[in-house]
Amino acid sequence: MKALVLAGGSGSRLRPITHTSAKQLVPVANKPVLFYGLEAIRDAGIREVGIVVGDTAAEIQDAVGDGSRFGLQVTYLPQDAPRGLAHAVLIAREYLGDDDFVMYLGDNFVVGGIDGIVRRFRQERPDAQIMLTRVSDPRAFGVAELDGDGRVVGLEEKPEHPKSDLALVGVYIFGPRVHDAVARLKPSWRDELEITDAIQGLIDTGGRVESTVISGYWKDTGNVTDMLEVNRLVLEDVEPSVAGAVDASSELIGRVVVEAGATVAGSRIVGPVIVGAGTVVRDSYLGPFTSIGRDCRVIDSEIEYSIVLRGASIDGVGRIEASLIGREAEVTPAPNVPRAHRLVLGDHSKVQIRQ
Ligand code: TTP
Repeated sequence: MKALVLAGGSGSRLRPITHTSAKQLVPVANKPVLFYGLEAIRDAGIREVGIVVGDTAAEIQDAVGDGSRFGLQVTYLPQDAPRGLAHAVLIAREYLGDDDFVMYLGDNFVVGGIDGIVRRFRQERPDAQIMLTRVSDPRAFGVAELDGDGRVVGLEEKPEHPKSDLALVGVYIFGPRVHDAVARLKPSWRDELEITDAIQGLIDTGGRVESTVISGYWKDTGNVTDMLEVNRLVLEDVEPSVAGAVDASSELIGRVVVEAGATVAGSRIVGPVIVGAGTVVRDSYLGPFTSIGRDCRVIDSEIEYSIVLRGASIDGVGRIEASLIGREAEVTPAPNVPRAHRLVLGDHSKVQIRQ
């Protein structure tokens, strides 16, 4: 069995972060979200992984390399444009050959790994195995309709009137018959080759599509709210450790990681929090569920429930909450007079200012 990891796409929901960088590399507890997926694939006993890459190919290749540090053999499969999840299968046709494969969306986060569904696929050998989870608003997802035995009888992409509350999780397992279904696809109304249409095609031509309803946690980290939520979840299990320097006037409470080379002075950190290597935290408060990347500066400020990427600087600005702050971003106070905000914002930035 191989794996096909999708790490292209346009990432429009995570702009402006995705103007300059791949969304699959946004860190969760200071580790790129993509790495959690690669580790889950490895832990399911899969070695050969094709990674579909788009505009951010160079950055993904830099981060993952040949895969050997994950115990994987990685092959990169360039996609000319984000033409849909099934288009990624189409361009991987030669790489996949007639092998079974796990398709894993590189920005998805599944707690509990995938070895359970991989094992079940190997035992039952359906044409496709999908993972489902119950959601409160199915209209935002691919939605499955099941018969009494849990077999999938129909799929709809973002339906206005959903037939169930079972949403497709971004991990699928396919046998080689899926390629015939993909080859027959026509672009959808949004001009993409949809994987839901390919699976529906399998069902319509007598293929067997099985489903597992997962009880564990799943999130698509495609937007900031979900990204912060996944960060919270991962930090909840982090092992506290202090390799950096913490001065006597600082206080660390709960699960706090201070990586080597970081310094914390005159500050109070209430975990779970991770402070990256080389970062300076001074005269500040870091509140629960916060990940500060490496080489950042947090001076005379307060930050909670947030992700701060490498090299960012937050200095003298009071309290920040529920924020995603990009690489090398600078947040500083405005002068007292005039009482105005001074902004240099990238395209598609979002700023909420307290009046
Ligand atoms: P999506 O999040 O569905 O699509 P997107 O990346 O275009 O994001 P947005 O909706 O914010 O514009 O994609 C799921 C995963 O699959 C993600 O890791 C990107 C990847 N992908 C590809 O590799 N190729 C594609 O053609 C598409 C559509 C997505």
